[in-house]
Amino acid sequence: MKHFVPFSALLIGVQAAVIDVNVGGPGVLKFNPEFVTANVGDTVRFHFQQKNHTVTQSSFESPCVHLDQGFDSGFVPVADSVTDNFPLAELNVTTTSPIWAFCRQANHCQQGMVFAVNPGDKFAAFQAAATGATTTTTSSSTPTQSVITVTTTITTSNNQTVTSTYVTSPGSATPTSVPSTDHKIIVGGTGGIQTFSPSNITAQPGDTLTFEFHQKNHTATQSSFAAPCKPLAQTSNTGAVGFDSGFMFVADNATTFPTYTIQVNDTAPIWVYCAQQNHCGNGMVFSVNAIESGPNSFEAFQAKAKTLNGTKDASSSATPALSRNLHGAGIVFTVVAVLFGFLL
Ligand SMILES: *[C@@H]1O[C@H](CO)[C@@H](O)[C@H](O)[C@H]1NC(C)=O
Ligand SMILES: *[C@@H]1O[C@H](CO)[C@@H](O)[C@H](O)[C@H]1NC(C)=O
Ligand SMILES: *[C@@H]1O[C@H](CO)[C@@H](O)[C@H](O)[C@H]1NC(C)=O
Ligand SMILES: *[C@@H]1O[C@H](CO)[C@@H](O)[C@H](O)[C@H]1NC(C)=O
Ligand SMILES: *[C@@H]1O[C@H](CO)[C@@H](O)[C@H](O)[C@H]1NC(C)=O
Ligand SMILES: *[C@@H]1O[C@H](CO)[C@@H](O)[C@H](O)[C@H]1NC(C)=O
Ligand SMILES: *[C@@H]1O[C@H](CO)[C@@H](O)[C@H](O)[C@H]1NC(C)=O
Repeated sequence: MKHFVPFSALLIGVQAAVIDVNVGGPGVLKFNPEFVTANVGDTVRFHFQQKNHTVTQSSFESPCVHLDQGFDSGFVPVADSVTDNFPLAELNVTTTSPIWAFCRQANHCQQGMVFAVNPGDKFAAFQAAATGATTTTTSSSTPTQSVITVTTTITTSNNQTVTSTYVTSPGSATPTSVPSTDHKIIVGGTGGIQTFSPSNITAQPGDTLTFEFHQKNHTATQSSFAAPCKPLAQTSNTGAVGFDSGFMFVADNATTFPTYTIQVNDTAPIWVYCAQQNHCGNGMVFSVNAIESGPNSFEAFQAKAKTLNGTKDASSSATPALSRNLHGAGIVFTVVAVLFGFLL
């Protein structure tokens, strides 16, 4: 009987390792190797070979069910003609507890395409449960909020290839490798309208955002969820500067409109406002990939802009939770602190 011992405590100071794992390949419905032993700080690097697989976190109890809040690479299709420079996904090991995963393509999991980090002596049982798996009950395990960084090549609509690195953050949309889309956003317009239209969108890595400036004098300036009406550079603690179109004056009788285009690089939310006078406080904000199911929705962002910079009375608005996104080292941490009577 083997015992699983967390050695990590003894190994402080030892160089972190990179452990390579191949995913799929011609006629191969397997992770190779099928499990690895890793220390905290090690990186498991998945090489997606030919065909179309995922690496998706599950649980020991439900091997073929995506764990709530667990990581997911999304589908990574690789053409048969590709034989080198395969797309990669990196998983940073942050726990000595077992991490269970599977491929969620078709019935690959039921054919035994499962993977584990630090399974101890339980891998065979896990794989057996996968191949017998018919149920799709949701797991009751406490999720380990791991993230995975995927580097893949995306072919855009004009046949250019863009190498995109994206991070899947818990709760965010799963990225997919599809031809990229340009999203047009109309900024302002006649009659003094203070809007981004549409006001909130979802976009994939590799997509572009084109802000088209209509009448009056607006900007599209990147901010953060915590401080909707301040440039990202002023509030970021990671050195992120954020984009800024600058003021775009458009005459009332204009018939052509200036544009400003920015590429979407990952699935993390992007928060934007207009820096003209009181426009932000009036709710002239925009988001990409806001997580509508959580506290950092577009609606919450817009409400916060109005509370912090508008005429909305802050003391009467019951806003007990302060959520802030710390966007550092490619990871999105959401810290929710309950603060009464104090709003950043
Ligand atoms: C990859 O598989 C997914 C799920 O079956 C499918 O939706 C997607 O279209 C596939 N991609 C390619 C390029 O075949
Ligand atoms: C994983 O670890 C590497 C090396 O420490 C680091 O460069 C990378 O940013 C980390 N990625 C994530 C998603 O934590
Ligand atoms: C967010 O966008 C959707 C789709 O465009 C729209 O229906 C919704 O009203 C928007 N939310 C707000 C608060 O404007
Ligand atoms: C646009 O607005 C900015 C900021 O209020 C101002 O400095 C600039 O002069 C305006 N441009 C025009 C052409 O009115
Ligand atoms: C919003 O309010 C903050 C704090 O008073 C201020 O620093 C910021 O410049 C304001 N933003 C706009 C766009 O007026
Ligand atoms: C708009 O109006 C201004 C001043 O009234 C004029 O100089 C300009 O030529 C007009 N532009 C167009 C596109 O009609
Ligand atoms: C995406 O990356 C490009 C190139 O590094 C950068 O100019 C752009 O600002 C990034 N987009 C966003 C939304 O941060």
